[in-house]
Amino acid sequence: MVAEVTRGLRLPQKSIPPKYFYDPAGSRLFDAITRLPEYYLTRTEIGILNHNRQAIGEHVGSGTCLVEYGSGSSTKVRILLEACDPRAYVPVDISRSHLVAAARAVYDDYPALSVYPTCADYSGPFELPPATRDMPRVAFFPGSSIGNFDPAAADRFLRGVAQTVGPGGTLIIGVDAKKDPGVLARAYNDTAGVTARFNENLLRHLNAAIGADFDVAGFRHRAVYNADAGRIEMYLDAERDQVVRINGDAVEFARGEALHTENSYKYAPDEFIAKAARAGFDCIDALLDERRYFMVLLLRVR
Ligand code: AVJ
Repeated sequence: MVAEVTRGLRLPQKSIPPKYFYDPAGSRLFDAITRLPEYYLTRTEIGILNHNRQAIGEHVGSGTCLVEYGSGSSTKVRILLEACDPRAYVPVDISRSHLVAAARAVYDDYPALSVYPTCADYSGPFELPPATRDMPRVAFFPGSSIGNFDPAAADRFLRGVAQTVGPGGTLIIGVDAKKDPGVLARAYNDTAGVTARFNENLLRHLNAAIGADFDVAGFRHRAVYNADAGRIEMYLDAERDQVVRINGDAVEFARGEALHTENSYKYAPDEFIAKAARAGFDCIDALLDERRYFMVLLLRVR
């Protein structure tokens, strides 16, 4: 973490990977974001999953090993547990305390299910439990978290998932669609200021985890839609000149200088289906809400 953060702060455009949002406080703030009126993503995706659970169950079949990338509170997966009746559930998350509590709660509710919580950064390789080796594999990557990867990294990630689930394996992925820029901008600039607190908490996390001394009050949340790149960009703007110390290093911020904290790419349905095809997946079903705000794609490895 120290190496990755210091490297990001030395770039001409200072930048911190968004996975560091998710300390315990950040995970709680993200859960609060999912309940915001402006943040349509979570409730739209849950609506799509609920509305199509029978079709999803038929496509996926039972007795599988269901691997969830970035399981967080393990809320959405419960719809799949009901619809698909898997034998094993492997929640993968970077936030250990959140992961363990959520896995425990799933196991309490589904005692016949084998639950294997796996604390890992899913952007890199991780091991699946040996006991699941012979089960057909289903990957679940909800929430449009794929949007955090830039397009080339998303391609690499999709190829990695294809390798993990193997030929005939399934990926169920939630992707936020391109839409009215005003709707997108409001989803990341909520009037209650929860997204701003989530963004600022990144600095608190760095202070606590790697002994940085960011003055959180000296930075201001900004989120903008970049239509050319097809992404929401989030920044923390320095409100005055300041020097931040990290591990003996000094990092200077000029007044108005931006620290980039997140990209959230949006894809048109056809655009994402073509991307998945290049990574080795056939689209077996594309599920969208009525407004076409969000898509859940069922993809199968060729
Ligand atoms: C969890 C990455 C999908 O990009 O919408 C929410 C994170 N950031 N509000 C997103 C987030 C600001 C979220 N993802």
